[in-house]
Amino acid sequence: MSIFLQRPCESREELFDRDDELEMAVKAIRNDIWLSILGLRMSGKTSLAKVAANMLSSEGYDSIYVNLMGVRGVRDAAERILSSIPRGLLERIRELKGFLEALGVAVTGMRFEVKLKTSTSSTKVLEKLFLELSRRRKLIVILDEVQEIKGGVNHFLAMLSRLRASTKELIFIFTGSAIGMMRTLLLPSPRNPLYGRTPVKIELKPWSRKLAISYLEHGLSKCNVKYSDEELEEAVSTLGTLPGWLSFYGLRRCLGMPHEKALKEAREQAVGIARKELENLLKNREEWAKKVLRMLTYGSKWTEMLTEANVSTRSLSNLLQTLKSLYLVTEEKGVYTITDPVYRQATLTMKIENHAL
Ligand SMILES: Nc1ncnc2c1ncn2[C@@H]1O[C@H](COP(=O)(O)OP(=O)(O)OP(=O)(O)O)[C@@H](O)[C@H]1O
Ligand SMILES: [Mg+2]
Repeated sequence: MSIFLQRPCESREELFDRDDELEMAVKAIRNDIWLSILGLRMSGKTSLAKVAANMLSSEGYDSIYVNLMGVRGVRDAAERILSSIPRGLLERIRELKGFLEALGVAVTGMRFEVKLKTSTSSTKVLEKLFLELSRRRKLIVILDEVQEIKGGVNHFLAMLSRLRASTKELIFIFTGSAIGMMRTLLLPSPRNPLYGRTPVKIELKPWSRKLAISYLEHGLSKCNVKYSDEELEEAVSTLGTLPGWLSFYGLRRCLGMPHEKALKEAREQAVGIARKELENLLKNREEWAKKVLRMLTYGSKWTEMLTEANVSTRSLSNLLQTLKSLYLVTEEKGVYTITDPVYRQATLTMKIENHAL
């Protein structure tokens, strides 16, 4: 059986390492503390949230998982949340249909599709529903990729603040990048509607090289694949130490693919994903941002980037701040670097106009 999955981990057995982070998450939930889980793409944010919630199901917690990827405004998000509530959970509300319809939710079809009526306030519906659902059993709500909610953020935050104040039976786990709404949620200032009860932050760092190697060793032995130390060293040098990229390689080896082919395919797939991320980030930014990214691949100082890119300190600072919030760039002794080798390779595949680097 392969431990390399093409989906987030669900159970404790599927999650390699991350003991401290998991313990912290579970403890926080048991103590009615809300959580935010942050980290680079493929670091295992969704996995950690799901495993923690599933571990607590035997202690009387229900959970709802909502993937907010691609939602625009709060209304969109509300519909996504409504549609993600397991039918079994909803059916615990007596007179379900009437309850929802009174809230302005149209319930249609056999597949139980929910749609908000146009005159309905989406946050009011969610608030009432969450309160109702958490009345008999404690409820964990995982809002994954919460930074995607852009329009109507203030209404959404105000709803969270009211829920925080009115019940202890409802725990939210937010995952995503520290930008947009997530950034506001983490602000240690009165501007944060959850001020004083700011979600506890868990950061998922890339693994150490040693841990990354033992993850591969563990997984490859489980599916009886023969490997050499050199192969694993090469895999980690190419793919870095994020669980997601490594699992691309591991699962191919477990299917019987030889080392070179598995690594080539894993690398191509990973670089493709990273490149899309970077392209999204560069959207609406000028060519100089690409130059800066390229310099960050090799490690660069602030003044060097400023001279080369020829932009205002504000624009450069803004870009670097975003890259840091996404955990893409780290700063050490004044040198900024893209640390993940997959992102470094992705940067190098991007063409830069009129540039000799
Ligand atoms: N600790 C872990 N042990 C084993 N596999 C893991 C671990 N963490 C993540 N993975 C694997 O890595 C991949 C990515 O994990 P996951 O989707 O949880 O990451 P993520 O940070 O939510 O990524 P994204 O930013 O793309 O949403 C999945 O295939 C998952 O099975
Ligand atoms: Mg995820």
